[in-house]
Amino acid sequence: MTKKSEIKKGDPETTGHSWDGIEEFNNPLPRWWVWVFYITIVWGVLYSIAYPAWPLINQATAGVMGWSTRGDVAAEIAAAEEANAEINERLASVELTAIADDTDLNTYAVSAGAAVFRTWCAQCHGSGAAGVQAAGYPNLLDDSWLWGGDIENIHYTISHGIRNEDDPDARYSEMPAFGRDELLTGEEIDQVVNYVMSLSGEPKDASLVEAGAEVFDINCSACHGENAEGDIFQGAPNLADAIWLYGGDYDTLHDTIYYSRYGVMPPWTERLSEAEIRAVATYVHQLGGGE
Ligand code: HEC
Ligand code: HEC
Repeated sequence: MTKKSEIKKGDPETTGHSWDGIEEFNNPLPRWWVWVFYITIVWGVLYSIAYPAWPLINQATAGVMGWSTRGDVAAEIAAAEEANAEINERLASVELTAIADDTDLNTYAVSAGAAVFRTWCAQCHGSGAAGVQAAGYPNLLDDSWLWGGDIENIHYTISHGIRNEDDPDARYSEMPAFGRDELLTGEEIDQVVNYVMSLSGEPKDASLVEAGAEVFDINCSACHGENAEGDIFQGAPNLADAIWLYGGDYDTLHDTIYYSRYGVMPPWTERLSEAEIRAVATYVHQLGGGE
């Protein structure tokens, strides 16, 4: 059943489509709509010229405005640095020992230092500063210090590092390789290993301990101390406290004494600002083991 067309005179033309007699006017799009549409096209073209847009092989076109997300981040970092400039200057210039007494400065130093630590130190010392699984990286949480745990010593160690070739002021000492360089016989090493084991636990062979004590006295006490309590001026660890840098079992001790170890830590004055070094020193100092 077809309905009669109701098109009147003066109506726009129809498209010619007809569904059950319902016909479709061919109205032009509203002017404003068309203009908005053209504007979006122009906008799109201009935008892709001004900003990074078209993908190339490795990158996108840079855009003539030179804008980038990295640039934004750099600006934000610069703004943050400016905001902290004053407190950083204060941190870099006060007496090291005065930092802890200045609540604001101390709070700032500890949180800034924790961030420095996560970025630069955690790969060797572990994210919680407890030393990583690999031997030789000291735990910084305990109160056993190789080179001293007061803020000045910690600051010095971090600034110049240990046994590195990059900083002439690096902490330096060298335990002789008693076995490799034939300073001690195999028997003497066996004895002194048992003596060292006896200081904090059970020796492997108790009958060698007494002879080992004598070997220790002659060869080791100059650095490790008469009672093996260690010496921070030579970075020589306490051997009686059951805290081990490399390990306290027979084989590890034997290796340590036979070959020596020579642990190296890089200096930080080139890579970190004085304020950053002081911040991370304050952070390490307050971790629990600071003296
Ligand atoms: C490449 C590895 C490495 C990195 C990175 C590193 N350290 Fe060390 N650090 C060591 C080693 C190894 C020692 C022990 C050296 C030794 O046997 O005397 C050490 C020792 C120390 C000591 C002395 C501990 C003591 O008992 O006296 C402090 C403090 C310290 N590091 C702090 C830091 C801080 C803070 C950072 C980051 C700014 C850092 N370290 C980054 C390897 C590293
Ligand atoms: C010139 C000083 C010096 C002399 C002498 C010396 N040591 Fe050491 N010793 C050190 C230093 C420094 C370290 C720190 C480790 C390193 O070199 O990285 C160390 C480390 C050790 C360690 C490792 C401790 C740990 O926590 O894992 C043992 C064990 C040790 N020494 C035993 C001895 C014995 C035994 C003798 C004598 C036969 C001896 N040392 C003589 C300086 C010395």
